[in-house]
Amino acid sequence: MSAKTHWESVYETKPADAVSWYAPHLRESLRYVAQAAAGKDTAIIDVGGGESTLVDDLVGGGYTNITVLDVSATALEVTKRRLGAAAARVVWMAADILEAELAASTYDIWHDRAVFHFLNDDGQRRRYVAQVLKALKPGGFAIVGTFGPEGPEKCSGLQVSRYAPSELHGVFGEPFELLASSVEQHTTPWGSPQQFVYCYCRRAPS
Ligand SMILES: C[S@@+](CC[C@H](N)C(=O)[O-])C[C@H]1O[C@@H](n2cnc3c(N)ncnc32)[C@H](O)[C@@H]1O
Repeated sequence: MSAKTHWESVYETKPADAVSWYAPHLRESLRYVAQAAAGKDTAIIDVGGGESTLVDDLVGGGYTNITVLDVSATALEVTKRRLGAAAARVVWMAADILEAELAASTYDIWHDRAVFHFLNDDGQRRRYVAQVLKALKPGGFAIVGTFGPEGPEKCSGLQVSRYAPSELHGVFGEPFELLASSVEQHTTPWGSPQQFVYCYCRRAPS
């Protein structure tokens, strides 16, 4: 089954707050965005944003240059409806991140919570990093959250790859300096703990 087929079926059958990754606010993500952002017009892409409230909080926080990309058009429609008129101030991209036509050197901040960990082979990981290197400006920031070594082995029925901070940073490699990392205990809507690891990296200025 393709990623698109899988995720469309998830979002067609489950409300936003009934999925394991739901959190009312992505606090760790917001904390890193606030550190990375030079101003409110900083260009941010949320990769695999799904139906998360990150975009609501970014718009509410005054950020004016936001793109949300997801392989599920259904998820993007739900998020747009929730935002109402403010949705017009966001760029929406329904695309697979491994195939998306991203404009070069466009974003100051690349954010991904719980998407990269679904890439289980090296070819996919290399392709993802190539997309970051294409679309992120030199000197830009990558904020990537995955399941940690003690996190679940599966999410949404799919196998995931789990990372310690050094392993996650290692996949991104030399062009990225690891500025900080953190471990977050996420609690699912039904009360189960899930370990997340965040890496906050800076792409070398050219
Ligand atoms: C576990 S959810 C996380 C959603 C959101 N980032 C959050 O933290 O609430 C994974 C998301 O990644 C999207 N996704 C999965 N594979 C993708 C891909 N190859 N390209 C783009 N989006 C993808 C899914 O549709 C889904 O919205």
